[in-house]
Amino acid sequence: MDLQIKNTNYSNDAILLGFSDLKRLKTERPLVFERGKGIFIFDENGKDYIESVSCFYCVSLGFSEERLVEAATRQLKALPMYSSAIHRTVPAVMELTERLAALSPVKNPRIYFSTTGSEANDHLIKFMWYGNGFANEPERRKVISRHASYHGSTIATSALGGSQDLHQSFGIPMNFSIQVSHPSWPNSALPGEDEEAFTDRLATELDQAILEAGPETVGAMIAEPVSVSSGMFPPPGSYFPKITKVLRNYGIQLFIDEVVTGFGRSGYMWATEAMGIEPDCVTCAKGISGAYMPIAGIIMGQEFNRRLDLGNEAKGWFAHGATHHAHAVSAAVALEVLNIFEERDVLGHVRRMMPHWNKMLDGLLSHPLVRANRKFGLTGAIEVAYPGEERGGAAGGLKVGGLTKDIYEAGLAEGVIVRPLAGCFVMAPPLIITEPEIGELGRRVRAALDRVLAGVPAASRAAADNVT
Ligand SMILES: Cc1ncc(COP(=O)(O)O)c(C=O)c1O
Repeated sequence: MDLQIKNTNYSNDAILLGFSDLKRLKTERPLVFERGKGIFIFDENGKDYIESVSCFYCVSLGFSEERLVEAATRQLKALPMYSSAIHRTVPAVMELTERLAALSPVKNPRIYFSTTGSEANDHLIKFMWYGNGFANEPERRKVISRHASYHGSTIATSALGGSQDLHQSFGIPMNFSIQVSHPSWPNSALPGEDEEAFTDRLATELDQAILEAGPETVGAMIAEPVSVSSGMFPPPGSYFPKITKVLRNYGIQLFIDEVVTGFGRSGYMWATEAMGIEPDCVTCAKGISGAYMPIAGIIMGQEFNRRLDLGNEAKGWFAHGATHHAHAVSAAVALEVLNIFEERDVLGHVRRMMPHWNKMLDGLLSHPLVRANRKFGLTGAIEVAYPGEERGGAAGGLKVGGLTKDIYEAGLAEGVIVRPLAGCFVMAPPLIITEPEIGELGRRVRAALDRVLAGVPAASRAAADNVT
């Protein structure tokens, strides 16, 4: 298909891409992808790659789902845009709200649609400040998060993210942010510590952090059920029950960030469901529209809503909104995603693929560069180290080491895209992946590991450490 976009006049000087080396952008053309089919994407030279990370853990139904294109087109033709605000909306937003409420991981929810996962988390904090103010608890503003987590790129969500380097380099105000340990089991366990002792220690640390901050100043804790971008460490089963108990003790709400894990990644609609977590509010994005259109959901529970209503009673309205929130085309696409989930039993498919996925991950353990793996639904982390070196550390955040960067580069040569992190690389393929495709993905990843082991590409190994 002719895209009718010719970028031969592309200016290296003008472009700024996220999470990229600005100097490299000036001298080297970035990787340019032109089209996609299922789990594959094709670059401008026609080379195919398996997108083992679904782009940013988001293209859950693959890159060529015609039904999503048609749903978007139908809405574009009927009414391409109308802001959902000032007591006005469109049918797709009303229907999506109803369908999502029926599937909600919190009881009797109220749902607000924003545009990105970052915005959803950011606005949830803003709404909490609003509600707590009107509930006579204006001092309950602080939010607890975990080191090495990722909750987005706005100013507030950067403060919740775990990267100290990022806090410092962007000068992020941290006056409402408290950070506690990430449950990177077993890597950050103390010598001799079993699962119970590990989660007891983390619950005690949380309790102490709350006491230190002043319990009456803490509004919420935000956590991903499993943080893929910090190395994908599924916490021991006792972690969430114990921290939930601590939070309840002080009237602190639990916000669960399902931006990555929601919409089937775990084999359930929500990871909270798969893991028995009891959140007060949940955010979601990415998979909600198969990532074809930007949309995110803030799903708020009863106590949270009671507080919003107090604000409304005092002010006569809820003074928050934005032009592209609950975008009509995004909502139409998200509705079609829900239809496809039902009609094609996407959750059942994920569960059927999980044993093949796990087998593929285990098959890689025999490779000399692979030290361990971690699994969660259709997601996997492969811990790597050069022979003779210590294994990768605990949750490392965004910083990428030399070996995983080499594996990423070798993966490109072998036609597979993985996400390199510190000490490991992660994969979270489109949920539609089939058994033969899992086999082919495993084959390409092993070829990439072989390529690195054989010393290719030596140059990038020497370049090592500084890339995010
Ligand atoms: C757990 C989590 N929360 C929030 C976000 C931010 O979402 P977005 O990039 O759509 O703003 C991300 C992005 O990767 C994420 O992984």
